[in-house]
Amino acid sequence: MKESYALITGSSSGIGLEIAYYLAEKGFNLILTARRESLLEDISKYISSKYNVKVDFISCDLSLKEAPKEIFEYCNSKNYFVEILINNAGYGISAPFHKSSMEDEEKCIRVLSISVIALTKLFIPIMMEKGGGKIMIVSSVAAFAPPSSIQSLYGPTKTFVNRFSDAINLGYNKNKIYSTAICPGYTITNFHTASGVQDEMDQVPNFLKKSAKRIAIDGVNAMFKGKRIYIPTKTWKIITFLINSVPYFVFKILSSFIAPSRFNK
Ligand SMILES: NC(=O)c1ccc[n+]([C@@H]2O[C@H](COP(=O)([O-])OP(=O)(O)OC[C@H]3O[C@@H](n4cnc5c(N)ncnc54)[C@H](OP(=O)(O)O)[C@@H]3O)[C@@H](O)[C@H]2O)c1
Repeated sequence: MKESYALITGSSSGIGLEIAYYLAEKGFNLILTARRESLLEDISKYISSKYNVKVDFISCDLSLKEAPKEIFEYCNSKNYFVEILINNAGYGISAPFHKSSMEDEEKCIRVLSISVIALTKLFIPIMMEKGGGKIMIVSSVAAFAPPSSIQSLYGPTKTFVNRFSDAINLGYNKNKIYSTAICPGYTITNFHTASGVQDEMDQVPNFLKKSAKRIAIDGVNAMFKGKRIYIPTKTWKIITFLINSVPYFVFKILSSFIAPSRFNK
């Protein structure tokens, strides 16, 4: 008989790693995936020694077309039932749109969205067969924000995955499969360094920056409550409300104070 697992992409650092800790604390077996294999190995050993759960890992580059299938086949070969699929891996491109290569844009879109669709497509039939499952997509407040002059495709891609999550709910809630798009604001992780925008992050006021642990705990709890879209923390709920309510030009002026680099580059 297949044992239940939570599969977490991008679990070698940041929000994904904190999700792994929190799910392990709750007693879930884990499959971790990211590119940095030795880090995954160390994390797996640490989690399995600290919590009474099984932890396995598979190193994969989700910018490659074949990666989701490799992950899926690995899980099948080990007889794992992925009851919880957490699509978290992500980064942004720091170069201005006219300077980045099409190949780099395609890779980033693949990690942020096409791999999310591919993994969901591969794992959903087994969830249906087993009578249910949970999917989380780590999206972003950028899904609602006005376009930015840096990482021009990041926000639109996050909007796209939010709508994809909605479509999954519409199509599969009847099969007890629920998808939650969590939309964090600025979170202290490796993201800004990995995406070449740490200078921009340093200019953001501290009250807007939240810890990865808090985002992970709030996000996982929202997933278990079956929330469709979840914006962690009161601060970012208010900001998202403002984004959706005030005219664009007013929000642009406000943003030029709190996140100047989004507009001034
Ligand atoms: N930090 C923020 O302010 C913020 C705000 C809103 C939303 N988010 C979203 O939160 C998610 C997690 O990011 P984070 O903030 O936790 O950043 P992070 O600490 O940099 O973590 C990103 C994770 O994604 C993995 N990853 C990156 N490229 C990959 C690839 N090509 N193939 C497979 N895995 C890859 C990284 O692992 P490897 O390098 O080992 O592959 C790492 O585990 C992302 O989807 C991001 O868009 C972040």
